[in-house]
Amino acid sequence: MKTILAIETSCDETAVAIVNEQKIYSSVVASQIDLHKRYGGVVPEEASRQHLLTINPCIEEAMEAAKLTWNHIDGIAATVAPGLVGALMVGETAAKTLAMIHQKPFLGIHHLEGHIYATYLSQPHWQTPFLCLLVSGGHTSLIHVKDCGVYQQLGNTRDDAAGEAFDKVARLLNLGYPGGPIIDKLALQGNPKRFNLPEGKVSLPQGGYHPYDFSFSGLKTAVLRLVEKLKKEHKESLPVADLAASFQATVARSLTKKTTACALDHKLTHIAVGGGVAANSGLRNHLQQAAKEHNLTVHFPPLKLCTDNAAMIACAACDHLERGHISSWNLGVQSRLSITDVMTLY
Ligand code: KG4
Ligand code: ZN
Repeated sequence: MKTILAIETSCDETAVAIVNEQKIYSSVVASQIDLHKRYGGVVPEEASRQHLLTINPCIEEAMEAAKLTWNHIDGIAATVAPGLVGALMVGETAAKTLAMIHQKPFLGIHHLEGHIYATYLSQPHWQTPFLCLLVSGGHTSLIHVKDCGVYQQLGNTRDDAAGEAFDKVARLLNLGYPGGPIIDKLALQGNPKRFNLPEGKVSLPQGGYHPYDFSFSGLKTAVLRLVEKLKKEHKESLPVADLAASFQATVARSLTKKTTACALDHKLTHIAVGGGVAANSGLRNHLQQAAKEHNLTVHFPPLKLCTDNAAMIACAACDHLERGHISSWNLGVQSRLSITDVMTLY
């Protein structure tokens, strides 16, 4: 059983955690939301600078909270792909430096593999194979999880990620950033059936539609056109709660339909959800209901493990190190890397 210190800096959270397999000794997350809020989205250069300022205090805090010494640590890990290159470099450099100083192995981790491992942290007896629905600010994927490092991508988004769609719709409704939690809260007071919005479909060249690929840009444009129409028609304020509820229900329906179809077609009885959008109450309700109807088991990790954190990165690194997977000192960071290429990191 390996103990790993992991660093996650792929986007706008500086996170450090110490984990032994499924036991979290410490997990520190310093969010940059306040910094990026005024721009309505993450500004990469600002994110890198902020990671530089917060990384060392986060490492110290994680070590103190875990009450461990460096002798207890078996390996140092960092997210190396995919993500913002400058931001990833801060975590990667810090992890490699610590690994060299303390003479520990270094492991580069794929960010999405971390989201997959969040499931094991909250469900220790969870086993492969299963289907992972990964819904974050940057990704929307259906992944067949076969074993550590062995993944098959069955579905993907063709344009916006689910979280990105929430953020963009929140911006056009002037609700603030990040949009997901704001829309989720507002939707509770709205009527999800008031507006009929299109669920995105991805056409195939030979006709018909892709059964598991997602598209959210058409839905976002439909909300924009609807808002423009409502503004023209009404003098009173926009029915934002009904718009939020209708939009959220459409996203939840689309994610649920494709995830359920994918699980049934591939005879996968277990579904794990990961990424920030897994926090969404609409998605939770729709998917849990559908899973019940089709006799499927669905697991949503607790909120703090759904959004970006380093405990999930450490958990993935524990499994890789246990199997003898170690990264080269020459391994760099990559803005893009398919989940199917995880093993190129070792
Ligand atoms: O996984 P995450 O923390 O970071 C990425 O790797 O992208 O996901 C962040 C995304 C944001 O787009 C945010 O709006 C969305 O997750 N999000 C939500 C909710 N909470 C966070 N979307 C819908 N409903 C929520 N409750
Ligand atoms: Zn993420």
